[in-house]
Amino acid sequence: MCGIVGYVGERPCRDILFRGLRKLEYRGYDSAGMSIVTDSGVNSLHAVGNLDNLEALLDQLDGGGTVGIAHTRWATHGRPSVENAHPHTDCTGRFAIVLNGIVENYLGLRKTLLAEGHIFTSETDAEVVAHLIERSYGGSLQRAVVEAFQQMEGHFTLCAVAADEPDVLVGVRKETPLVAGIGEGEYFLASAVPAFLADTRAVIYPEDGDVVVVARDGVRVFDLDGKPLRRKVQTVDWDEEAAEKAGFETFMLKEIHEQPAALSDTMAERIGPDGGVVLEGLGLSAEDIRGLARVVIVACGTSSYAGLVGKYALERWARLPVEVEVASEFRYREPVLDADCLCIAISQSGETADTLAAMRMARAAGARVLAITNIVGSQATRETDGVLFTRAGLEIGVAATKTFLAQVLAVLLLALHFAEARGHMGLDEIRSCTDELKRIPGLLSRYLDSEAPAQVAEVARRYAGSGYFMCLGRRAGLPVAMEGALKLKEISYVPTEAYAAGEMKHGPIALLDAGSPVLVVATDSPVYDKLMSNVQEVIARGARVIAVASEGNDSLADVADEILYVPRTDEMLSPLLAVVPLQLFAYYVAQARGEKVDQPRNLAKTVTVE
Ligand code: F6R
Repeated sequence: MCGIVGYVGERPCRDILFRGLRKLEYRGYDSAGMSIVTDSGVNSLHAVGNLDNLEALLDQLDGGGTVGIAHTRWATHGRPSVENAHPHTDCTGRFAIVLNGIVENYLGLRKTLLAEGHIFTSETDAEVVAHLIERSYGGSLQRAVVEAFQQMEGHFTLCAVAADEPDVLVGVRKETPLVAGIGEGEYFLASAVPAFLADTRAVIYPEDGDVVVVARDGVRVFDLDGKPLRRKVQTVDWDEEAAEKAGFETFMLKEIHEQPAALSDTMAERIGPDGGVVLEGLGLSAEDIRGLARVVIVACGTSSYAGLVGKYALERWARLPVEVEVASEFRYREPVLDADCLCIAISQSGETADTLAAMRMARAAGARVLAITNIVGSQATRETDGVLFTRAGLEIGVAATKTFLAQVLAVLLLALHFAEARGHMGLDEIRSCTDELKRIPGLLSRYLDSEAPAQVAEVARRYAGSGYFMCLGRRAGLPVAMEGALKLKEISYVPTEAYAAGEMKHGPIALLDAGSPVLVVATDSPVYDKLMSNVQEVIARGARVIAVASEGNDSLADVADEILYVPRTDEMLSPLLAVVPLQLFAYYVAQARGEKVDQPRNLAKTVTVE
């Protein structure tokens, strides 16, 4: 996730663009840059690190130009560096572009452009766009942007300026955000409204494939064939804080709704045309994977529950023995590790002190280490043999949501990759899993856009006064129950415990009495009937059952007090959907209790201390 802002108007745009970037800093801050069109051409500036570093250099940029683009980056392809910071320019320096999203076919495009003699200066996927525009340009930036767009696969928003058209800014989007701002004699393009809210509240929301041409006399929208389109100008009535949350009441709710995009981004390029899984940068050859005797997954909190999904998937698909260890314990034991062991460290921040210590310990003992993290350039990426990045974008809410889903997807992809390398699954079997995986972002979008979240909210409000919750699950449902329980604890402060449903009768069932709410992850699974026996044990104690179930399962109607349906999918992939109603449930319980969900008490987003 990156932040883009562009301006065409009468005022010098340097400081206006910078102010816009500040408002988009929540979208990423590992590097930033700006390009301004002046009489002498396109002048650009880049800096690594947060926006303070760019601000310190701003004087180097011509302050007089009135057309420009700027970008604050959240690295996906290429580490944070000056070379990789946007805007990117073509070989001649006449065109500058900024991009948010991922160009999935950039490697092929880059190869072709290199063969044609284009010179690349960065490792990014985005730079290809500047060269594509250079190649197509015949006097119309609009046309060249469309031609570039038509060759690009993936999901992205791009904005471009050209030295030869000093009055124009062109933007186009595909499944990522772009909004145009209509001021008085000045116009904006941005990833989100806060970038220009101080200057105008009149906006146009372009649709996918709309080509937005911003000129000194206004904003026009065209289709890809150049036919003018009518798009409504709307007025936003949010204050600035609400605008940063894109209209959601909290970052956590916004991030729950960003989960389909987090999944699409994390999946991008990792499922090949034949349906196989393609993972780069793991630091493990197929032979290394075949030689592994076992896997130890180290992580903390939510990340450890993603690890548990990884354990089930690696055991089932790749037939590898897997242990999941809480890093804070692991690091102070004497675990048995050797060169046949792979240590997978999962950490969204890549900075969690205990996880880093566990990684170091594993390496010192001769094990290979693979980090799964959301942050390019984080400490975990510097102390590992290989990395698998999740691409959930910046998560601001302290309670992890979209990063959890991206981690679960990453471990599932890894397990399929290992299964193929170890000869336990053929390509046909892998393809049937990856075909199903590809459906999940769409299923989740549909779920989030349906009445379902409102139904979860209504149920949550009815139970918000409870003094205790129990969460139960079996197999793939267990990590989901554990994550649901952690969300409830973290943001609503209601004591909540999660158990493997079959374990309940060995003690925890004593906690239940009439009216105790029990959340049961009852999506399709081979042990569904066993789970139903556990549910009967709960009912016999007078407890109330809130079941998360697969759509179309009517058999629960006589058993559960509340049913929260999720789209149906394969059991191993079900955590990607089943956890969402539990996130929402915890959210609405916390909200009903008047808690501040984005900053829960006693917690920090990144735990860099022991
Ligand atoms: C829960 C949560 C924490 C983190 C844990 C590990 O919502 O966010 O439990 O999962 O602190 O953090 P990372 O993944 O950054 O190592």
